[in-house]
Amino acid sequence: MQILGICGSLRKASLNMVALRECANLMPPGMSLRITGIDDIPMFNQDVFDAGIPEPAKRLRAEIAAADGVLIASPEYNFSLTAALKNAIDWASRPPNQSWQDKPVAVFSVTPGPLGGARVQYDLRRILGQLWAHVLPRPEVFIGASAGKFADGKLTDETTRKFLTDLLAGFKPWVERMQVRK
Ligand SMILES: Cc1cc2nc3c(=O)[nH]c(=O)nc-3n(C[C@H](O)[C@H](O)[C@H](O)COP(=O)(O)O)c2cc1C
Repeated sequence: MQILGICGSLRKASLNMVALRECANLMPPGMSLRITGIDDIPMFNQDVFDAGIPEPAKRLRAEIAAADGVLIASPEYNFSLTAALKNAIDWASRPPNQSWQDKPVAVFSVTPGPLGGARVQYDLRRILGQLWAHVLPRPEVFIGASAGKFADGKLTDETTRKFLTDLLAGFKPWVERMQVRK
């Protein structure tokens, strides 16, 4: 089971990216993670799309289409998605063959504040739901107060590791369930 990882932060030292990378070690047997970049995707413009989808966006669309599921880790920017993540979702959302159709997705968020990105997750669920992606309803994983949970580019908090492990354990049967339905 191939899972594509997407991080909503473009920051080199992104804690969401640290946590996303750690997910590769926490996945149940039979599940593997490959993380793709979204920093090279230009801003969506319908004229550019119509003239020919740029290579980075074409690559993302193909990667999402080929994956059994997508795992998204993102911070919250101004109570919602980062522009980079929304842009990536938009590029992959346009027909024909919009990439999110029937795609199992799991989301989590890491923020320095106490809420852990609750608002970005509900916006993500709303956006992906109307694209017919199937976002795992539970467990929800909000990693707040991130400053105390990471050190030297590593996830150091055992409770957070357990939350992510539970998320991934729940995601595997969710992906399998969607495969049966196809
Ligand atoms: C433009 C901007 C807006 C932000 N807005 C929020 C917000 O609404 N809620 C929140 O919890 N954190 C907010 N933050 C803080 C981010 O959650 C924080 O920078 C986060 O750690 C970035 O994730 P990263 O370490 O993966 O880059 C904002 C940061 C930026 C740059």
